Amino acid sequence: MQEGKVTQCIGEPTEPTNIVIFGAGGDLTKRKLIPALVKMLRCGLLHTDCKIIGVLKGRTREVWLEALHQGINQYAPELPMDAQQWQEFTTRFKMVSGDLESDQTYLDLSEALESLEGRTNAMFYCAIPPNWYTTVAAGLHKQGLALETEGFRRVVIEKPFGMDLETARQLNHDLQELLNESQIYRIDHYLGKESVQNLLVYRFANSILEPLWNRNFIDHIQISAAESIGIEYRANYYEKSGALRDMIQSHLMQVMTLVAMEPPVEFTADAVRDEKIKVLRAVRQIETSSVPHQTVAAQYGSGTVNDEKTKAYVAEDGVSPDSVSETFAAVRLHIDNWRWQGVPFILWTGKRLPKRVSEIVIRFRKPPFNLFDTHANPPIANSLVFRLHPDEGIFLRMNAKMPGLTTDTKRMVMRAPYSEDGADVSDAYEVLLHDVLTGDATLFSRADEVEKSWSIIEPILNAWKDRISVVRYRAGTWDIPEMDALFENCVGGWHKPS
Ligand code: BG6
Repeated sequence: MQEGKVTQCIGEPTEPTNIVIFGAGGDLTKRKLIPALVKMLRCGLLHTDCKIIGVLKGRTREVWLEALHQGINQYAPELPMDAQQWQEFTTRFKMVSGDLESDQTYLDLSEALESLEGRTNAMFYCAIPPNWYTTVAAGLHKQGLALETEGFRRVVIEKPFGMDLETARQLNHDLQELLNESQIYRIDHYLGKESVQNLLVYRFANSILEPLWNRNFIDHIQISAAESIGIEYRANYYEKSGALRDMIQSHLMQVMTLVAMEPPVEFTADAVRDEKIKVLRAVRQIETSSVPHQTVAAQYGSGTVNDEKTKAYVAEDGVSPDSVSETFAAVRLHIDNWRWQGVPFILWTGKRLPKRVSEIVIRFRKPPFNLFDTHANPPIANSLVFRLHPDEGIFLRMNAKMPGLTTDTKRMVMRAPYSEDGADVSDAYEVLLHDVLTGDATLFSRADEVEKSWSIIEPILNAWKDRISVVRYRAGTWDIPEMDALFENCVGGWHKPS
């Protein structure tokens, strides 16, 4: 295949593998999976003998492939493919048409896999709604397709892993009846972001941070994902999910474990995940009576975002006009261990906010005493900000002297962009697909982590279950006064990204 404009990828190439995508006609396949595979192939991360088998129904091969080609042009314009390049690429595609609950589909899949001689490894990617995961695992099991007699057999599933503790436990139980835990790769695409992984390198490859990384120096920590988009076409899912389940239980809590964990003894999947689960175990159980003080739920009204008028959540297609689902959620957590006693961790996320910014703010304690006569502009507490998106990098907010004859202070920001030469930062999906194919489970959630994070938010879900109203904020603003109370006694208060 001819080279397009591609980022240089660094990593071991995968072994020849059959990549089976359930839900190959869906949005995730078109937007994320195929562009990631094309990119991996172009930069040598994907073995050229890998084949892609799409499982879908109701489309001809031509219509399916045409949709994938359009997807490349639309969602990965940096990977342009003309008709001939696409034609060449599609020689590695096979299609199996059928229902997910039909035995025939797995028989056909088995035949398709057997026809691809010489490759015994298989990755089964479930790009389908979660209520189908067990059906697919059962279908694979019945046909013996999950048996690792020769090569590896790995099954990838996407969040949500359940909708609460009980359903998450059930899902884990059902899957573990059919597969070994080591074959299950639960994707949290946040952990595939280069900037999130870089957090581990910043923490554990630099000696200046560790002495400060504790309750003696840190006042509180904010972990946030602000988005300017609304719920797009996902009313059906979002009405049942809301922001707490959608972002906090999964992505933000996972990031919190990386921020708070102790150094692992080695950089292996289980050593890292053992440290992460210890953090979740140490999170203080929220009492039902404290839910109103430790959380905020709000919903966007109409407004203006990026100069465009936007409608209220309740006016979105598919949303009930009296819906009280939250599109903004915040939680104040405490980690009861030696390192973090007394340091609030505030996790917040929302849609239709003024901009899309995701970051970790480490807010240090105030200087113990103000030596300078700077009444107009007193020194601020230092913050170390890990920007996960956009402009990935690290910022340190400091106090500096104002030029002139006084000792007035001003704020200054030391910036260290993650990618100095402006090179593209790898997309989470190519990182995670590569990890599955090479058997590195470090960035995937283990069953115990998933259950523990659900148990942390369970009291909030219970308390919110019967609510009859929700705070409203104007789209495109940070106008949620309830956040001030959540930041009580936190130096500097709510950090609204600029
Ligand atoms: C998904 C959520 O998991 O993450 C979406 O379901 C959200 O609601 C998305 O928009 C955010 O991911 P990213 O990578 O765009 O920050």
